[in-house]
Parts: sequence; C-alpha cells; structure tokens
Amino acid sequence: MTDTANEIALISDSLELYAERHGDMAPRVYERFFELNLEAAALMEYLDEYMRGRMFASMVELFLSDEHLDPGGYLDWELENHIKAYSATTAMYESLFQSMRDVLDRDLGTDWRPEWREAWANRLDRVMERVKQF
Ligand code: HEM
Repeated sequence: MTDTANEIALISDSLELYAERHGDMAPRVYERFFELNLEAAALMEYLDEYMRGRMFASMVELFLSDEHLDPGGYLDWELENHIKAYSATTAMYESLFQSMRDVLDRDLGTDWRPEWREAWANRLDRVMERVKQF
C-alpha cells in the first residue's frame, strides 16, 4: 500500500469504529465546531440538519479519496464557493477540522490509536495547505 492509501485506510478504520461505538458523529462535530468558532456558528445558524448532514458527508469524502484534493478537483471547487460566496475563512476550516479531531479523541478514548491520530493529522494538514492557498 502507498503511504496515502495506508493513511486513508487508517482514517476509514477510525470512522468505522466511531460509528459502531457511538453512532452519528455529525451533530457532535458541529456542536464542538460552534463552541470553538462563534463566527462559524453564526454563519451556519440557519442551515438545517439535512444541509449540515450533506456538508458533513462531503467533508468526510475529502478524507477518504485523494482525487478530491487534486488541483481543480472537488476541494478547490468547494473552496471557491465557501470562501468567495459564503465568506467562510481559513480559521473556520481550522476549527472545523479541530472539532473532528476533538470528537474522535474524546469519544474513542483509549481506542483512539496513535497511528490514527497521525493519519488524521497528515490528512488535515494536506487539506489545510490547499485551503490556505485561497
Ligand atoms: C472541507 C470542508 C467543507 C466541505 C466539504 C463543505 C461542503 C459543503 C456542502 C456540500 C454544502 C452544501 C450542502 C447542500 O447544498 O446540500 C455546504 C454548505 C455550506 N457550508 Fe460548507 N463545507 C465545508 C466547510 C465549511 C466551513 C469551514 C464553513 C464555515 C462556517 C462552511 C459553511 C457553509 C455554509 C454557510 C453553507 C450553506 C451555504 C448556503 O447558504 O447555501 N462550510 N458546505
């Protein structure tokens, strides 16, 4: 397996275990996100659960496939919408990704394996590099 395929497999394993043990992660991630970033909470206040669910699912897709991170790929397209049209900021992305990590860490407890933590850190750094280019 290549490094990124391995990373994706680790991320996928962590999400699977989370779902098995704790169910739907999305509401907990949004709760943490809004605690960490009040401006993001205000921006997303009117988004219903369905929209939030779709946004969460699209975000998870980014962590599970490399093709979305290619220049001109899904991530760039979504950033164009978010940063230019919705006034999302780099700091909001930082907070959203931090929320993912916090919820995994908090709820998985001793099951949160060091190699999962590392795979998440690498992946999120890679996504943030592209976010910062906008
Ligand atoms: C990689 C991270 C993200 C992904 C993949 C993503 C994806 C999406 C998608 C797919 C939708 C549309 C949902 C639908 O039409 O059904 C959406 C909507 C939205 N997102 Fe995100 N999002 C991300 C990060 C953020 C961040 C950091 C913010 C900042 C608060 C944000 C704010 C919003 C807002 C305000 C909308 C609603 C726009 C509208 O009024 O139509 N998103 N997002």
